[in-house]
Formats: sequence, structure tokens, C-alpha cells
Amino acid sequence: MLEKIVSGITATGKLTLGNYIGSIKNMIKLQNDYEQYIFVADLHALTTYIDPKELIENKKNIFALYLACGLDPQKTTLFFQSDVPAHSELNWIITTITNMGELSKMTQFKDKSQNIVKQDNKTEIIPTGLFVYPALMIADIILYNPKAVPVGIDQKQHLELCQKIVKRMNTKYHLNFNEPKPIIPKIGNKIKSLVNPEQKMSKSDKNANASIYLLDDPEVAYKKIQRAVTDSENKIYISEEKPGVLNLLTIFASLKDISIEEAEKHFSNKTYKDLKEEVGEVVKQFLIEIQKKYQSYIQNIDEIAQAGAKKANKIASENLLIIQKAFGLK
Ligand code: AMP
Ligand code: TRP
Repeated sequence: MLEKIVSGITATGKLTLGNYIGSIKNMIKLQNDYEQYIFVADLHALTTYIDPKELIENKKNIFALYLACGLDPQKTTLFFQSDVPAHSELNWIITTITNMGELSKMTQFKDKSQNIVKQDNKTEIIPTGLFVYPALMIADIILYNPKAVPVGIDQKQHLELCQKIVKRMNTKYHLNFNEPKPIIPKIGNKIKSLVNPEQKMSKSDKNANASIYLLDDPEVAYKKIQRAVTDSENKIYISEEKPGVLNLLTIFASLKDISIEEAEKHFSNKTYKDLKEEVGEVVKQFLIEIQKKYQSYIQNIDEIAQAGAKKANKIASENLLIIQKAFGLK
């Protein structure tokens, strides 16, 4: 029997090149060797307020982009998180074995709650859902009992907590679930903002120039790369002190499937203008290809999503029952 893999992306905004390079690219590789379950995390999108119409749009876009990027429904079970009620049911159980102290240490919670406080200057308006978000993520994972979870580096801390909670649950309730390992890409596990290369490229960035969206007009994306913040040295080499240049080299290397050292060599005698033109061109061609496929999928995702949910529901409810029995609920 094949080992299992599970992962998801939160439906909070439009997918970026960071999501592709940091997470989707690995999913595509893994689908050939594993039984893979990939979902659109719509329940997670509710942790900070989102306009319901926007959520519906985002859900469909992400689902069709999964397909357009190369996830094959014959190999990967694709579904919407909220179509599998076991996620919400197990979430409750997981909150009972997760401590407040553990959840308060999560850096993503600290960042997001600080942003809310900054906007409104009140601490009491932080949603409980934002605080317990990692418990839902742990439930998402345990339901498929996977060997590993492909994610970008920002999810490493959540995965470590997941391992800890699975271990706790196994010991306390005499269960035998896997402690899943994160699969984090070597190249591009944290693609940076084009405007501030110290920060990650994020789908919730308010400045549209900071991110390349997978559905950006390819010409607009090309222009964003030409305007990307670098430095004034005009010499291309790998250095943490040159985050803007390193980011462009990383994007180039990942999309060309070469190492960063090979990318560095390719640009060694070239200027920043050359670098931006070549990276811009590679990104543009990549988007053109994905968007062509996207158009053919966007109209008919319902059938794939229903079939995916059916398959996911089967395995998720089996694992939920094992846990419910162990906890004395059934
Ligand atoms: P999110 O956009 O936060 O829902 O993340 C979905 C997946 O994409 C997670 O596995 C993230 O770690 C990954 N990801 C998001 N942004 C980036 C980025 N800038 N670079 C690399 N991976 C990313
Ligand atoms: N929290 C993840 C993110 O924002 C998305 C996610 C939700 C996820 N559930 C998951 C990723 C389960 C992997 C496994 O990126």
C-alpha cells in the first residue's frame, strides 16, 4: 500500500508564485509516488474576516489552479475542506488535547493577531478561531494519517506542533497514528516580496506589486519583476546580504529546475537589467502556460470536487471513528 501525503492552502486570497514554488511544486512531484490528498482550506479562511463572495471566488480559483499547475485528479484526491465534515468534528477533539500555552507560541498567531490589534487597537477582538487554527490544521492532517506534509517553511512550526500532539494522543489514548514530517523544498521555501525582499511574498499583501499572482496578466507580472527591489551593487552572486537578487535567482532556479549555484553561474557576467529581463521572461512564460490550462478547468471543477470529497470522506470518517472510539465517544 502506498504511503499517504496530505496538504492544503488557505483560501484567503489569490495564489502567488510563492505558493507554487513553496508548496504546489512538491505536491506535483509527490503525486507519482504517494496516495495524495490535497484540499482548499476554506474553513481556515474564516479565521480572519473575509467577504463571503470573495471566499467563493478564491475557493474556485485555487481549485482550478491546483489542476492547471499539474495536480492530476487520477493521482491526487482534490477536495474542499468544508465538504468533509470530519475536519470540523476532529478539530474539537484536538482542541481538548492541545494547550493554550502551545497555541500562544505559534508565530503565525502572534503576527496575525498583532496585525488585527494594530488595525483596531483592541485585543478583545481577536477571533478564537485564529487562536485554535493549528488544532484544525492538525485535525486536517491526522484524518488521512499521512507519512508527510509538503509545505513552505512558514508552516514548519505548525507541523512540529502536529507531531507533538499526535505523539500525545497516541500515548494517552493508545493509538498508533503517524507523526508526519514536513516536506520543505530546498529551493524557494520562502519566496520574498518583490517590494520588501526581507519579507515573504504573501497572498494577503496589500501592495499588489509585492507579489506575482498566478492569475496576473503575464505582461503585468513581467513589469513587476522589472521593478523588483534589489540593491545598488549591480553584481550578481549568492549572498544573504543581497535578498532581492537572491530572491530573483531563486525564482529563476526553481522555474528552470536548476540549482541556485547554476543560476548564479548563468548570470555571473550579466547586469541586473539582464537578470530582471530573463527572470521576467521565465515567469511570463510560466504564467501563460498555467493560465491556458486554468481556462479549461475553471468551468468544470464541480465533478472533480465531488468525486474528491467522496473519497476523502471515506478515509476521514474511518480515521475519525477510530479516534472517537479511543476517546470513549463511541
Ligand atoms: P498560505 O498562502 O499561507 O495559505 O500558504 C500555503 C502554502 O504555500 C504553505 O505550504 C506555505 O508554506 C506556502 N507558501 C506561502 N507563501 C510562500 C512563499 N512566499 N514562499 C514559499 N512558500 C510559501
Ligand atoms: N495552514 C496552512 C497555510 O496557511 C494551510 C493548511 C491548512 C494546511 N491545513 C493544512 C497545510 C494541513 C498542510 C496541512 O499555509
